[in-house]
Amino acid sequence: MRLLEVLAALSLATDLGSGFAPEKGLRTCVAAVAIARQAGLDDDGVRVVLQTSLLRALGCTAFASENAWHFGDDLAFQRDLHTLDPSDPESFARFGAWAGEARGAELRAHFVAIAATVGPQAGQASCEASRDLGTRLGLASEAVAALDQVAERWDGTGFPGVARGEGLTPAARILHVAEQAVLAWQGGGPAAALGVLDRRSGGQFDPGLVTMVMGAPDSLLAALSVGDPLGVVLDVEPPPRPTVPIGALGSLCEAFADLADLKSRYTLGHSRGVAALAARAGGLAGLQDEAVERLRLAALLHDVGRTSVSTSIWERPGRLSAGETDQVRLHPYWSERVLVRAPALAGLGPLAGALGSELQRRGAVRHRRGGPLPVHDDQAGPVPVGEPLQRVAARAHPFLADGARVRAAPGHADVLPRRPVLPVRPDLQFRPRPQRARADGLAVLDPRHGPELGARERVRYLPARAGRDAV
Ligand SMILES: [Fe+2]
Repeated sequence: MRLLEVLAALSLATDLGSGFAPEKGLRTCVAAVAIARQAGLDDDGVRVVLQTSLLRALGCTAFASENAWHFGDDLAFQRDLHTLDPSDPESFARFGAWAGEARGAELRAHFVAIAATVGPQAGQASCEASRDLGTRLGLASEAVAALDQVAERWDGTGFPGVARGEGLTPAARILHVAEQAVLAWQGGGPAAALGVLDRRSGGQFDPGLVTMVMGAPDSLLAALSVGDPLGVVLDVEPPPRPTVPIGALGSLCEAFADLADLKSRYTLGHSRGVAALAARAGGLAGLQDEAVERLRLAALLHDVGRTSVSTSIWERPGRLSAGETDQVRLHPYWSERVLVRAPALAGLGPLAGALGSELQRRGAVRHRRGGPLPVHDDQAGPVPVGEPLQRVAARAHPFLADGARVRAAPGHADVLPRRPVLPVRPDLQFRPRPQRARADGLAVLDPRHGPELGARERVRYLPARAGRDAV
């Protein structure tokens, strides 16, 4: 299978985790490749641009907990942050609009107050996650390096603020232009796309690159309006096209799992833990090795759709509204939809979605008394792991198994006292008290890990220990 198919699925997950509709990453990739070709980059250079632009948001979940804490809705915050131009008063005046007029003004003040201290922390955590995940995914080393610069700016006022001007890689400079062109085009068509290039030339963008694009904009405009961005991305990848041996699929699925689990400080290692439990249960249920491996991979992927829901919802200990509960209930659907778009993972999508749906229903593992989980694998048929999963989950740490020891909490009812929406305080230090919390209403914190770790510590924790402590 082609590596690019897997990366495309991951791009869709990062779209959700950045507050955008699916395909924003794919469209950015198509536009970036068009600019790269216009600039005369060779195939190796184009490949770096392609991978960088496709996975621009690979670190999108690394600071989600802190963003939710500071700004109430990490998805709305990230969406606004992507289009924010601090040097443009009009752009800055729109920032925070998701929270309403009065609250938005408070959020802008809070943003200014913490930008110099928290901003670099956010940039470092995101870059570290991108670097780690990108390396494990087999990206070109130049693409991994460029991922450090996705939020930098030509004028040096970006994040983490360590590169500027000619010090930015060509891939990063092309990405900056392509991404803003896509977002502007989605809001206002070709005129808006070209307008943002003109306004931000010399500020966010390399002015030489903007001059080149504006001199012959047809190829960019054509790229912005393609009907099937996934098909185009797969077509424009230059040879040689990297492939993934079947045996290496597990490590790629672990990258998906870690991206999803970083979404909340209370789910660190959750997907790997569920996968380990599911594999053991599959063995106890007498499944063949191949079916056990499919179950393990699907379990690694079962919460990819978690990125679609704001961390302020995942981490809120109080009761959720009906609309918020629906968002939680829909996240397995998004897991499946992200996976089925990529030919390489499409076969695992329905199983991952069904497993995720079943595990979040009323603490399925805890309550089910024998009998198969109503999970169906297109290849293996019904998966009879209900009772074995219940047995192995009972011996595991509770955060690893959806619902294993946690009172079922559809709608996140009443295990914890309601915590009010956090006030905006310029002097706020992110230091939440340790507490039990549910993730999808089913998972809980392993008391040894999670809430007390900073964002960079959480990123570093995952590859080394996640899911291995308790199974
Ligand atoms: Fe889960």
